[in-house]
Amino acid sequence: MIIGIPKETKADENRVSLTPDKVDLLAKAGHTVVVESGAGAGADFKDAEYEAAGAIIALGPEAVFDRSDMIVKVKEPQIQEYGLFRPGHILFTFLHLAPEPDLTSALLASRVAGIAYETVEEENGGLPLLYPMSERAGMLAPQIATTLMQNQLGGPGRLIGGVPGVEPSRVVIIGGGTVGFNAALMANALGANVTIADINLDRLRYVSPASSGAIDTAFATPQTVLGLLQRADIAVGAVLVPGAKAPRVITSEMVQQMRARSIIIDVAIDQGGSVETIRPTSHHEPTFVMHGVTHYAVPNMPGIVANTASISLSNATYPYVLKLANLGLHKAIQTERPIARGVNTLDGYVTHKAVAEALRLEHVDLEEALAA
Ligand SMILES: NC(=O)c1ccc[n+]([C@@H]2O[C@H](COP(=O)([O-])OP(=O)(O)OC[C@H]3O[C@@H](n4cnc5c(N)ncnc54)[C@H](O)[C@@H]3O)[C@@H](O)[C@H]2O)c1
Repeated sequence: MIIGIPKETKADENRVSLTPDKVDLLAKAGHTVVVESGAGAGADFKDAEYEAAGAIIALGPEAVFDRSDMIVKVKEPQIQEYGLFRPGHILFTFLHLAPEPDLTSALLASRVAGIAYETVEEENGGLPLLYPMSERAGMLAPQIATTLMQNQLGGPGRLIGGVPGVEPSRVVIIGGGTVGFNAALMANALGANVTIADINLDRLRYVSPASSGAIDTAFATPQTVLGLLQRADIAVGAVLVPGAKAPRVITSEMVQQMRARSIIIDVAIDQGGSVETIRPTSHHEPTFVMHGVTHYAVPNMPGIVANTASISLSNATYPYVLKLANLGLHKAIQTERPIARGVNTLDGYVTHKAVAEALRLEHVDLEEALAA
C-alpha cells in the first residue's frame, strides 16, 4: 500500500503522524511511504531521517494525496485540504466530526473512508489512539493553568501548590478518564488540592486508590459541580461521550459564580467543549475572559510538545496503520473490530451512530455500507 504523511495544516500544529522509526518498519513490511517535505520539522524530525528510513519525500500536499492510498494525519483536515480527497482514499487521523458538519460533508461527497483515531475502540471500551494524546493533554492542563495564574498574564497571582502557611490552589476536574486522571496526578504532584467529578462510579472507585487517596472524588450532579466550581482556582473540562458532542457540564450561570480571575481549561473543546461559555482558541491566542474567568480552549494542546507527542502518538497508531496496510480496508474492517469501530464515513455514508446523531444525518450500518 502507498501511505502518505502530509504536513499538518491546523494552526500551530507541530506534530507529525508517523516518526521515522515507524516509516522504517512500514518500508521493511513492503509498503511505500510518501512524506511531504518538512512534515516532521516541527517535531524535530528531518526529511533526511525519513529518507534514510526508506520514505519518498514529496513537495507539497497534492503530491502526497495524489499518490497515496492511505493518508495518515494527526488532526482533522482543514478546509484547504478538502479538495485533495478522492474516492478510495483511506483517511486515518483524529477527525472529531461531531462539531464539524463541513468536513463531514466533504468526506461524504468524496467517498473517503474516514477512520477516526478517537473512535477506534478496544473490546474493553478502551480508546487506544485517543489515550496517548489524552495523557499528554491531561498532563499539560495544570502546567498551563499554573502559568495563567501568574499576575502578568492577568491571573490571581496564586501559586498552585501554596507554601507553608498558605492554602494550596483548588483544582476541580470534570471527567475522570484519561485526561482527567492525568491532569489530577500532575496537579497533585504540583501540590494542589484536587477533586475529580464524574458520573461513572466505577471510574471514581478507581481514582481514589490509584492516587493513594490523594485525589478527592465527587459524583457529578449539577449541584456538586457548582459547589466545587465556586471554590475552585482552576477548573478542567475533561468529559467525553465517544463520537458525540461533549455534554455542557459547566453552564454559563456556573461560570458567573466562579471566583474572579479563576481559570477554565476546557480540554474537551475538540468535541465542541464542555463549558457553555467556551469557544475554540489557538496556541497563538490561547485565552479569552468571560464573566471575569479566563477561558483556555486549544483543541490541539499536545501540538506544543510535538516531539514527545508525535513519538507517543505513532507508538499507538503504528500497529493499526500496519494492519490497514497489510490487510487492505475491507479485510481490516471485517477482521479487526477496533478498526471497524473507528470508521466514521465510508463510501458516502456516515457509519458511526454517535456522529450521525450529533450531526442529524442518516446512520448506515457499516456492514450495509460495505455491501453497497
Ligand atoms: N484539547 C486537546 O488537545 C485534547 C487532547 C486529548 C484529548 N482531548 C479530549 O479530552 C476529552 C476527554 O478525553 P479522555 O480521553 O479523558 O476521555 P475518557 O473517555 O477517558 O474520559 C471521559 C470521562 O468523562 C466522563 N463523563 C462523561 N460524561 C460526563 C458528565 N456529563 N459529567 C461528568 N463526567 C462525564 C466519563 O465517565 C469518563 O470518565 C475528549 O473530548 C478528548 O477528545 C482533547
